[in-house]
Amino acid sequence: MADNAKDGEVDTSAAEAFEKYLVPTIFGPWSEAMIDHAGTQEGHRLLDVGCGSGAAARYAAKTVGASGMVSAIDFNAGMISYARTLDPSGHIDWHQGDVTDMPYDDNAFDVIVGNQLLQFLPEKEKGLAEMKRVLAKSGRLALTVYCAPHRNPAHAAVANALENHGIDSKGVVHPFSYGDPVVLGDLFQEAGFKDVSVVRKQMDSYFPSAENFIECLAAGGPSSRHALEQLDDTGLRELKAEVTAALAEFVDADKGLRVITAANMALARA
Ligand SMILES: C[S@@+](CC[C@H](N)C(=O)[O-])C[C@H]1O[C@@H](n2cnc3c(N)ncnc32)[C@H](O)[C@@H]1O
Repeated sequence: MADNAKDGEVDTSAAEAFEKYLVPTIFGPWSEAMIDHAGTQEGHRLLDVGCGSGAAARYAAKTVGASGMVSAIDFNAGMISYARTLDPSGHIDWHQGDVTDMPYDDNAFDVIVGNQLLQFLPEKEKGLAEMKRVLAKSGRLALTVYCAPHRNPAHAAVANALENHGIDSKGVVHPFSYGDPVVLGDLFQEAGFKDVSVVRKQMDSYFPSAENFIECLAAGGPSSRHALEQLDDTGLRELKAEVTAALAEFVDADKGLRVITAANMALARA
């Protein structure tokens, strides 16, 4: 699997697995909720930052309609090239690039959204300053960032089980490392945004079993698959058994494993 220096870099096949297993279950519903929360309307010019395989951008394109426009940016070449294949009519303007240095004019967008991006930026202030630059006056910014691991028990169980096997779980817990709503709100405020609000939201997603959840993370989890691929067959079998036991209380006989994701949604005006 092709990797480069940037954490979480994926090739097209990992991007495809992300889209197939994790977008319908987790990232798609969160992206749609974020776009709705931002008050996105027909005619808006919208930018999806850290777009991944483009779940938010594709949903936004339907919301803004023919009179609006959607751009999307991600530094991951595999994600962007796969995202383009899911937009055959070319309605969305895709860019491979860094959100801390974007190729857009000042005041170019009415809405900027970013689902599960901010926690990955080493220079968060620089990222927010750049978003503010390309956002029109009174335009809206909505960013969604996972809460701490204890509010995301399925992912926490996978991280714990990895540690039990002597594998560094940093990659698995990193997405949940910026979960303080006050810190998030202050970051927006200090970047000069107005009318800042942060709301905590929880969603339930169902996977057939804990084993299946782990297989989905191993195939397409941008942050977790590198940790999981360090296990040999026996290690992976044992880890699946441990996680199954740890998450027994979340199993519904009909629906399967309930994976709870909790995130803070920050919304503000430029
Ligand atoms: C967890 S994924 C979320 C993808 C997408 N927003 C979604 O909800 O499906 C985080 C994405 O942020 C991208 N990313 C991280 N840092 C970035 C940066 N500095 N500039 C652009 N993209 C970045 C990663 O490449 C990855 O695709």
